[in-house]
Amino acid sequence: MSSVVIVGAQWGDEGKGKIVDIYTEFAELVVRYAGGPNAGHTLVVGDDKIVVRLLPSGILRPGTKSVLGQGMVVDLQVLLSEIDELGRRGHQGLEQRLALSDRAHLILPYHILIDTLRETSAPEGKALGTTKKGIGPCYEDKVRRTGVRAGDLRDLAGLEARIRAALDAWKPTILALGGELPDVQRLMADLRDAASRVVPMLADTSSLVDGAIRAGKRVMLEGAQGTLLDVDHGTYPFVTSSSAVAGGAAIGVGIGPNRINTVIGITKAYTTRVGAGPFPTELSDADGTHLREVGAEFGSVTGRPRRTGWLDLPALRYAARVNGFDGLALTKLDVLTGLSRIKVCVAYDTPAGRVTDLPIDLLDRPESLRPVYEEHEGWKERLESARVLEELPTAARAYIRYIEEAAGVPIYLVSVGPRRSETIILHNPFVGRAAAP
Ligand code: GDP
Ligand code: IMO
Ligand code: MG
Repeated sequence: MSSVVIVGAQWGDEGKGKIVDIYTEFAELVVRYAGGPNAGHTLVVGDDKIVVRLLPSGILRPGTKSVLGQGMVVDLQVLLSEIDELGRRGHQGLEQRLALSDRAHLILPYHILIDTLRETSAPEGKALGTTKKGIGPCYEDKVRRTGVRAGDLRDLAGLEARIRAALDAWKPTILALGGELPDVQRLMADLRDAASRVVPMLADTSSLVDGAIRAGKRVMLEGAQGTLLDVDHGTYPFVTSSSAVAGGAAIGVGIGPNRINTVIGITKAYTTRVGAGPFPTELSDADGTHLREVGAEFGSVTGRPRRTGWLDLPALRYAARVNGFDGLALTKLDVLTGLSRIKVCVAYDTPAGRVTDLPIDLLDRPESLRPVYEEHEGWKERLESARVLEELPTAARAYIRYIEEAAGVPIYLVSVGPRRSETIILHNPFVGRAAAP
């Protein structure tokens, strides 16, 4: 039995897509367990750059079956256009090796409308900076018990009744926001078209994944977003609406927590955040610009410039705790090349004194919080061609070892560029030893 969770340790965009793609070479099944098309996971294969939003990042491995788990919220238009786009780019037969949980909730146009209207009408400083993909309202429907699930596509009359009931519940909100109620007939016509392609992909994915794990297959469980965006453990209310943390994998896939063997946290060698909310180590100087420009830090879904800052060790230790990291993948180390010194936040000064744990409930009160930094020597050499740690400059090696020790988690992988080959694998959880990508 071998199942591995990949989870973001920060505010998303840590490079999960690349790492899932790398390790999935050794897996037979790859399963997304949370979130929806708010995610943008970038895969760089040869000269081709592909951003997947709903499809699992192992989708380009032809020998691997891909699963969209029940913790996800799925916009069928996005799903089908992703499949079609990959088909045009030469990746055929995806629908045959894709399973969609019949319990995953559907994002419908009114979810996107409400998300967008709320964001655009929010008073100054109150907008969350969502991706406007309908994520929040769709999860709201799920917990309000007025949601529509993928399995409802099997019974279109029942589906229409559920949509009408949901719209009755949303009507006051839509009207108060100045929106127009959607035309249900048109919506049903679109869903009828989509159903003919989607129903054959529906499956009881809990049973499918549990069966695969019991049969000894290697299963990759792919997280989306990141720990600090998790609805329970993140910087609430500036979070997404799903359980992004590793525990969310058990719920979002439908397997017991004891079926998960290994949890790998992904962290950049610095920090980014896209959207609103606290970010204590954020930079607004030339170093911040360096990180954004060299790191190409622009949102893969919305194109928004990402906010950039130094690595936050209290936050990394917090993520290690709430996820139970067995190992870390450290990404984008190459982006630090050229900085004369690299700072790392090691603690916070708070009204109660200096703390090394993340004071998460104080983060939205920057006046009562001061990050404490340590400085590390930078390096000038490019790192992209390094394939073993020994090929890295001494200062870069020292930075890696420092993070490993401070986080209290072994580093399994160091990423030195966006391509598959630009990777130093120290440990492969599926084969138990280093293996070249
Ligand atoms: P995800 O949402 O966690 O999958 O991350 P994104 O794909 O949204 O953002 C990560 C970006 O960094 C993508 O453009 C990747 O191609 C790129 N990337 C991943 N690893 C590295 C790395 O080690 N170095 C550099 N320079 N880019 C990387
Ligand atoms: P991946 O999987 C970075 C952020 C949004 C916003 C907040 C809520 O690519 O790492 P939502 O649309 O989910 O209601 O927005 O969460 N956010 C992400 N930021 N990477 C992501 O996904 C994100 N998914 C949501 O910017 O701040
Ligand atoms: Mg992303």
